[in-house]
Amino acid sequence: MRASTFFSTALFTATALAHGNITSPPARQPGPAMQAACGAAAVSAILADGTGPLENILSNGSPDCNIFLCKGAQFADNQALVQTFTAGQVVPFKAQLPIPHEGPANVSIIDTASNTVVGLPLIEFDTYADEALAVLPPNNTAFSVKMPTNLAGSCEVAGECVLQWFWFGTSAQQTYENCVDFVMA
Ligand SMILES: *[C@@H]1O[C@H](CO)[C@@H](O)[C@H](O)[C@H]1NC(C)=O
Ligand SMILES: *[C@@H]1O[C@H](CO)[C@@H](O)[C@H](O)[C@H]1NC(C)=O
Ligand SMILES: *[C@@H]1O[C@H](CO)[C@@H](O)[C@H](O)[C@H]1NC(C)=O
Repeated sequence: MRASTFFSTALFTATALAHGNITSPPARQPGPAMQAACGAAAVSAILADGTGPLENILSNGSPDCNIFLCKGAQFADNQALVQTFTAGQVVPFKAQLPIPHEGPANVSIIDTASNTVVGLPLIEFDTYADEALAVLPPNNTAFSVKMPTNLAGSCEVAGECVLQWFWFGTSAQQTYENCVDFVMA
């Protein structure tokens, strides 16, 4: 009995293996608004493993749900997490990458209404999370971006813009995203 309990616990752990996400600044989390938009299965997938790829998150197919924008997480569930930045501010990021998958990564400002990039990426990695390296470069898990000085009135309303961390594992064919809601002061 004890052995079989241990075995099923180990099995559960193995299927819930983590891949990566950002740990700071605070990023969008799933909640009731996401459940309404994307369905309960999508929320459960994120709650089971907050570091898993977008490809593991089953959407309900509703036009209100886009898993490829902020993992489907909604502004309505995250109004308490909105960060305030100033032009030229240096914003430090921390990420955890328990299971690296080599590929490109970047952080960009995304206009959430149109799911388009505002300006240029704030940081770009040609190669990120390379599991072939004995040790990942320190900048994979701790890096900074500088907020643009030319936003000219955009991103002043909460919910309009996010800082999106984006990572694609090329051979794994897995996409990872986290979104930080922010306003420019
Ligand atoms: C990152 O993953 C952990 C572990 O599943 C989870 O607790 C945390 O909420 C996740 N954070 C984000 C921003 O996705
Ligand atoms: C971020 O990287 C991904 C993968 O290479 C790419 O598809 C995306 O266009 C990049 N984002 C920007 C803003 O360049
Ligand atoms: C991250 O660090 C590596 C190793 O030092 C370096 O080659 C790479 O250019 C750095 N990338 C960024 C985006 O700073």
